Amino acid sequence: MINASELKLTAVSPDVRRVAAQAVVIAVAQDKQGPRLLDSPLPKAETAALQDSLASLGVTGATDQVLRLPATDSLKAGVLVLSGVGRVEGSTPDAETLRRAAGSAARQLAGLSKVVFAFPTPTVELAAAVAEGIALGAYTYSNHRSKAPEKGPLTEGVVATAASAHKELPAALRRAAVVGRAVRGVRDLVNTAPNDLYPESFASEARNAVKPFPLKVTVLDDKRLEKDGYGGLMGVGKGSARPPRLVKIEYTPAKAARHLALVGKGITFDTGGISLKPPANMHHMKSDMAGAATVLGTILAIAELGLPVRTTAWLCLAENMPGGNAARPGDVFTMFGGKTVEILNTDAEGRLVMADGLVAASADKPDVVIDIATLTGAQMVALGRRTSGIMGEETVRDALVEAAAVSGESVWAMPLPEELRASLDSTVADLANAGDRNGGMMTAAVFLQEFVGEVDGNKIPWAHIDIAGPAFNDVAAYGYVPKDGTGSGLRTLVAYAERLAGK
Ligand code: BES
Ligand code: MN
Ligand code: ZN
Repeated sequence: MINASELKLTAVSPDVRRVAAQAVVIAVAQDKQGPRLLDSPLPKAETAALQDSLASLGVTGATDQVLRLPATDSLKAGVLVLSGVGRVEGSTPDAETLRRAAGSAARQLAGLSKVVFAFPTPTVELAAAVAEGIALGAYTYSNHRSKAPEKGPLTEGVVATAASAHKELPAALRRAAVVGRAVRGVRDLVNTAPNDLYPESFASEARNAVKPFPLKVTVLDDKRLEKDGYGGLMGVGKGSARPPRLVKIEYTPAKAARHLALVGKGITFDTGGISLKPPANMHHMKSDMAGAATVLGTILAIAELGLPVRTTAWLCLAENMPGGNAARPGDVFTMFGGKTVEILNTDAEGRLVMADGLVAASADKPDVVIDIATLTGAQMVALGRRTSGIMGEETVRDALVEAAAVSGESVWAMPLPEELRASLDSTVADLANAGDRNGGMMTAAVFLQEFVGEVDGNKIPWAHIDIAGPAFNDVAAYGYVPKDGTGSGLRTLVAYAERLAGK
């Protein structure tokens, strides 16, 4: 369930000596010659003394190194915090470096309330990056604890910046707060135990979440899905006692030049079905709904920011279980729109629910369709845990790559090799749900491409984002990324929508 924990973000000018707060964070770069303090609000002599003792304090300036020291009387705050930014050329780190250092400090300072971040931020863009880092790092997940933990997330971040009086700063801080809250909401959904989050409860969660905004929600229940021929969602959901749902959320601002459709994979738990997954780490498959959570969070952020882009989000929700009524390998599903698919592996279920979603989304004739899914283990083989793969029509794909660069998310453009299509040929149906495992991330994308519709004989521009690795961090927290649900992908989609809006 989404926790609406509020974070206050404000800005002040760089002289923070008299600002009342629990702590002031300053940045330390990791130079070849040793650690180097970046902007310091301390008096000159104190700054010099601190600089001289950094090495003996064990401070290296490495990323994620966050050290607390008692502050001197020259600060009103009781604690001085040093946050490593890693290698930096010159005196001002780039936006993502600042975002990570602020996020890491905000994350590691859980339990505090008000903290000042005194990083070098000469521009609105850099001050906004610090604010966003705070909004991403100030996160803890405790919904399933019997008692609230002692250390809740940081509740107030103050950005000390030379751009504090800039007329564009308030909007930038607000954007950071909105985007950060949306990302934290995605993490909450991903982290929710799968006995609590299932298609029906996810749909009510979506209904609830959109209430404050001008958004229209339509929930197609299993009766309706059956009647209308959503064979992908119904076929995948059959093995579960908890039936599938398709959620459509519409944002229709008055002055919108473009219509963006977003489709998200929402497998609330993926056991693999009859093609059962091995038990090791199967519990991570509660995160197989991250795509749907991301499109929900994205449309909430787009609406709250009031972006002039008509947006439709589709949440393809089902639970992939091996129950007595579950699909068998060899079954043939008739997908929404009529194409038939032979099921060779019931664990390749994401592409089946997404196919229904892509056909449904295409029927509205949007200008562009983007889907996002924890689709393949092959994504991690190809790109690792932290880098999403983006495939599809090249202009959309490349625009998403550029949006990701602006947002600070790690993505990589991948091709859609034509020859993979033949590996999806079926002897009995229009296509099979599994093909070549070599380049399996691309094979899955080639499957999805078959379900993207046309307008006036032209394929709707479409791209697919595979977030299998990046959606769930099963190693350790770093930067502004917590362990478990990450919310990866949302910032890129919001940045893409802003591009469409001409921002
Ligand atoms: N949800 C998984 C993909 C996944 C794996 C996401 C690991 C995150 C971490 C997906 O439904 C799946 O099982 N894909 C199969 C496809 C194969 C059977 C063609 C896979 O990747 O093995
Ligand atoms: Mn699967
Ligand atoms: Zn899956």
